[in-house]
Amino acid sequence: MEMNASGAPSEAVGRAGKLLGGSRSVVVFTGAGISTESGIPDFRSPGGVWSRHRPVTYQEFVSSREARAAYWKMKREGWNEFAASAPNPAHLAIVQIERAGRLTGLITQNIDGLHLAAGNSEEKIVELHGNNRYVKCLTCGAVTGMEEAIRRIDGGEEAPECLECGGLLKPATVSFGQEMPRGEMERAHEYSTECDLFTVVGSSLVVQPAASFPVIAKRSGAKLIFINMTPTPLDAIADVIIRGTAGAALPAVVAAAGLKTRVQGIEGEERAGRQLKME
Ligand code: APR
Repeated sequence: MEMNASGAPSEAVGRAGKLLGGSRSVVVFTGAGISTESGIPDFRSPGGVWSRHRPVTYQEFVSSREARAAYWKMKREGWNEFAASAPNPAHLAIVQIERAGRLTGLITQNIDGLHLAAGNSEEKIVELHGNNRYVKCLTCGAVTGMEEAIRRIDGGEEAPECLECGGLLKPATVSFGQEMPRGEMERAHEYSTECDLFTVVGSSLVVQPAASFPVIAKRSGAKLIFINMTPTPLDAIADVIIRGTAGAALPAVVAAAGLKTRVQGIEGEERAGRQLKME
């Protein structure tokens, strides 16, 4: 599972565990690859979302009814897996890093809300690309649940409009060409310059500006761990690369780190290989 210079199995996990165990300020940066084991397809793996749909830009969405219909068709197609998804062991491993008091911030490109569902604190989570569980009116700003929009689509509407003002409804996610959320970008930048360890989990690191944060962290003196099934354009700056599945690799790194994890208010000892029962 692990690939590293010497090619020795689990040597990379051991090195990553040592970095994590010695870190006081960890930032975890996640992409769609952390949620594939929760049943949500990623974007650029074979069979991923972009192999079945063309991305609809924000400009197309606001100017073309056909584009909006195509966009909502894509959203509807992925909704059942999305709604049925639950956090997997990789998400829970990041909760353990937080409970050990080491997590400075959790920057995610994901829109699935699984980090909050797993138990990470909302104030530590930065959703760079928004959240797909809510829908926002682009005119009056009214926010409603995605379930209602899905019900309206199943009732025959191609592109639901705001029931308050008739404006265009769009999931509360960031599309290509749409302005990035300023507050989230500022927090992500601050976390990236503050941390001493920046861990990327399940991202192809090809989309800007999100992919700039590992570089900012490196320039600020942080060590970089990459856990990803395939190579990324930034592999050359990583200190440790674990070529494996997030659901197996991240818990193994946390176990190897021997973090003291506060569980139900008591000090617990995370021994290698013994996963604490997550409440
Ligand atoms: N474990 C580890 N890595 C995985 C796993 C897994 N179980 N499953 C997939 N991967 C890896 C893939 O090899 C791929 O390199 O995760 C990466 C996912 O890459 P993308 O599909 O490009 O997803 P992401 O990096 O999050 O994309 C960034 O692009 O389209 C936009 O807004 C979208 O937020 C998204 C952004």
